[in-house]
Amino acid sequence: MLRFDNITKTFGANTAVKAASFVVDKPMMIGIIGRSGAGKSTLLRILNKLTDSTSGEITFDGLSVTDLRGAAKRNWQSQCAMIFQQFNLVPRMDVVSNVLHGTLNRRSTMSTMFNLYPDEDIHSAIDILERLGIAEHAPKRAEALSGGQQQRVAIARALMQDPRIILADEPIASLDPMNAQVVMQSLRDIHEQDNRMVIANLHTLDTARRYCDRVIGMRDGKIVFDGTPEQLTTGAARDIYGADASFSEATTSTQIETTEPGNKLLADIAAH
Ligand SMILES: Nc1ncnc2c1ncn2[C@@H]1O[C@H](COP(=O)(O)OP(=O)(O)OP(=O)(O)O)[C@@H](O)[C@H]1O
Ligand SMILES: [Mg+2]
Repeated sequence: MLRFDNITKTFGANTAVKAASFVVDKPMMIGIIGRSGAGKSTLLRILNKLTDSTSGEITFDGLSVTDLRGAAKRNWQSQCAMIFQQFNLVPRMDVVSNVLHGTLNRRSTMSTMFNLYPDEDIHSAIDILERLGIAEHAPKRAEALSGGQQQRVAIARALMQDPRIILADEPIASLDPMNAQVVMQSLRDIHEQDNRMVIANLHTLDTARRYCDRVIGMRDGKIVFDGTPEQLTTGAARDIYGADASFSEATTSTQIETTEPGNKLLADIAAH
């Protein structure tokens, strides 16, 4: 289905991603973990073609993604919708219009200019918001919503594209633990109910373990771990994060009962 074959990305003398290879043979929920600068965002951006790889090839259902240009590239980008840590909504615009933005790639410039949306698109936007439990907020400005609600609006906008893959770059990094769980569960539900592939960069181990079928660990641009949550032992995690023997699972927890210092410790591990 999805195949990364020796994908490398260099920025000048810096190699952000080094010969990354993996195969996903059915829609899964995949978590990518690794400390800051490991290459996680670059990997997602290459898949979405926000940036081009320096060498290597990506194929999806036999089609070479690497070579896509123009309209074919835009079509691919709508097939793999991306959500971000900072939601990237238009703050002063109402929620439903933000969601309808997900249809921009298939609408004419003229209808975009005048904010003209077909009724059926408006209905599907409301249905998607309903599904994510935030339909009551549809007429509000996006900026009036909590972070967790805004991230669900961003997920709704992504779903409006009816994508095969949802890419999420640290989708819960700005959220409190309760909202983080709601957002992760929404992504999990979308994966299970719609059979869409979800690939999420995550900054905590327990989130990857709890919600993902498979975890890919990156270190210095290389994939150093690729396995199930069960295979992700403390030793494997220590290797991914390049931490010393003082590395503790407890420092990576984002469960509701977790105290803030625990999260800060992981941030420290991730940053060093
Ligand atoms: N546009 C760019 N120009 C130059 N260097 C870049 C660019 N984007 C990323 N890099 C470099 O590539 C490496 C990988 O960066 P990337 O953002 O993919 O890491 P990351 O794992 O997502 O980190 P974080 O957890 O901090 O988000 C880093 O050394 C970074 O400085
Ligand atoms: Mg990143």
